Amino acid sequence: MSKIETIGIVGAGQMGGGIAHVSALGGYKVLIHDISADRIEKGIATISGNMARQVGSGKLEEKARNEAMARISAAPAMADLAAADLVIEAATEDETVKRKIYAQLCPQLNPEAILATNTSSISITRLAAQTDRPERFIGIHFMNPVPVMKLVELVRGIATEDQTFEAAKTYVNHLDKTITVSEDFPAFIVNRILLPMINEAIYTLYEGVGTVDAIDTAMRLGANHPMGPLQLADFIGLDTCLSIMQVLHEGLSDSKYRPCPLLVKYVEAGWLGRKTSRGFYDYR
Ligand code: CAA
Repeated sequence: MSKIETIGIVGAGQMGGGIAHVSALGGYKVLIHDISADRIEKGIATISGNMARQVGSGKLEEKARNEAMARISAAPAMADLAAADLVIEAATEDETVKRKIYAQLCPQLNPEAILATNTSSISITRLAAQTDRPERFIGIHFMNPVPVMKLVELVRGIATEDQTFEAAKTYVNHLDKTITVSEDFPAFIVNRILLPMINEAIYTLYEGVGTVDAIDTAMRLGANHPMGPLQLADFIGLDTCLSIMQVLHEGLSDSKYRPCPLLVKYVEAGWLGRKTSRGFYDYR
């Protein structure tokens, strides 16, 4: 396999945009694809704003920002990703959506390209089996907000070749992130631990043990978490939180992972957190 120089990203949202941001700063050419030109444009504008924030706080030189932004281009057609050596899928945390994307995407890619998923919970082995390249398929799981968080989880599927793993490691090392390796089990390491804590916080609210403010203040000041668990749930997206709990519940067949009924109700109401301006907090 040749050297990785160009990264293709499927999904210009919170995670895809963040991955594009750090990849461009890491010196890679970046191609961003999403279902509409409008979404791609909005994604690139957000990256530009986040880089401006870093320049403003002295974390990034203006010149480095301009060079990084010049490395990012829109890829309105999936076929535009044929130029990528590594394609990272950062679509919604929904297995059906991801399967549909792989079916359309794989025939368009360079046969040698590595395909990675940023899934936060779904089996890498099962997703890999939906592609034409299980040996060149891997989980590269970034944390949100990607430009700030230092960790990336690498997860191999059963068929992932050593060469693929090494190439993914080299790529992440260029982004100045720390790697942890996780086995391919539901929700890997971070979310296996973090999401049950968030779900428990929602149960704590559901059972009336404390108010939203009391629960978040308790964990911020009592456990030194940078955000309270309910604020963090809103930040991650309540739909994503529910998907991860469902993967844990189904994948590990243990009632301790049962999603809190209040979480289910909020998602059914369309109260998905910050992105819909309403979750445990009101952002309107
Ligand atoms: N891009 C660039 N910079 C950003 C940014 C972004 N998207 N978001 C925040 N920042 C920067 C800010 O500019 C600021 O920089 P300076 O210190 O240089 O001014 C710094 O980060 C801190 O931001 P703020 O001052 O706005 O706010 P804060 O101090 O409250 O920090 C936070 C914000 C970094 C998000 C912090 O609250 C935090 O760490 N929260 C927890 C985040 C977390 O747990 N993430 C993991 C979620 S789980 C996950 O991602 C896994 C999954 O699959 C679901």
